[in-house]
Amino acid sequence: MRFDIFTLFPGIFESPLKESMLKRAIESGLLDVQLHNIRDYAEGRHQVTDDYPYGGGGGMVMKPEPVFAAVEAIFKDEGGGLRDEAASSVDSVQSAIQNPQSKIPIVLLTPQGRLFNQQIATELAQYNRVVLICGRYEGFDERIREYLATDEVSIGDYVLTGGELAALVVVDAIIRLKPGVLGDPTGAIDDSHASGLLEYPHYTRPPEFRGWRVPEILLSGDHAKVDRWRREQALLRTWRRRPDLLARAELSELDRAFLRQLEQE
Ligand code: 6GU
Repeated sequence: MRFDIFTLFPGIFESPLKESMLKRAIESGLLDVQLHNIRDYAEGRHQVTDDYPYGGGGGMVMKPEPVFAAVEAIFKDEGGGLRDEAASSVDSVQSAIQNPQSKIPIVLLTPQGRLFNQQIATELAQYNRVVLICGRYEGFDERIREYLATDEVSIGDYVLTGGELAALVVVDAIIRLKPGVLGDPTGAIDDSHASGLLEYPHYTRPPEFRGWRVPEILLSGDHAKVDRWRREQALLRTWRRRPDLLARAELSELDRAFLRQLEQE
């Protein structure tokens, strides 16, 4: 899978891509990250990428020309027109989801975007190529949103100094869903959020550490009991910490009975 990342600070991406899973995914050819410095596409001696907002007020706005020029350049280099290759409206994002191999989402990282979650990660992992545009300053000129981006994503309800850290979060969450990126073939299946629940508690050796024992059931060798215990722990943890997730989780009748019991206690 290939990511084209447009940023004013490509250096931010260097060390995260040189460590651990992302490094290995790049080395094995499963991940290709192409960084593009938006400033390289800005005109004039000073290569200005921001300007004052029309209508006044504080803060600077990211100019449209360098961002459009940068994104269009990578599609031109490859001989294809942007309009042909990129999913260029909300409508075509929908059709792109039906045929992800032929479309390229152009995702703006912005606190105003749709809230990134496991479902959006899974959706974007269906593509073999994704464009990410990182904002700086107080925001993007609206024409970038309207006429270039096909999607807008935020990683949470807080404000970062730019979209770069958010882009890394998005790349990481997507690439670990690809077969072969995680060592373990069951990989992402058991994740917190994959099932709509938080994960059950994990333990490894030793069976006793500073007097704290591993739950006996995990040492029992009774797989059916272990599975039920894990499920109940996942339900308990989700009920306590993230009850909002329970409304959308897939629950069996046994799960529902367990939750009713919690409510009564
Ligand atoms: Cl994508 N960008 C910025 N600047 N701040 C954020 C964000 C993105 N997501 C959450 N906060």
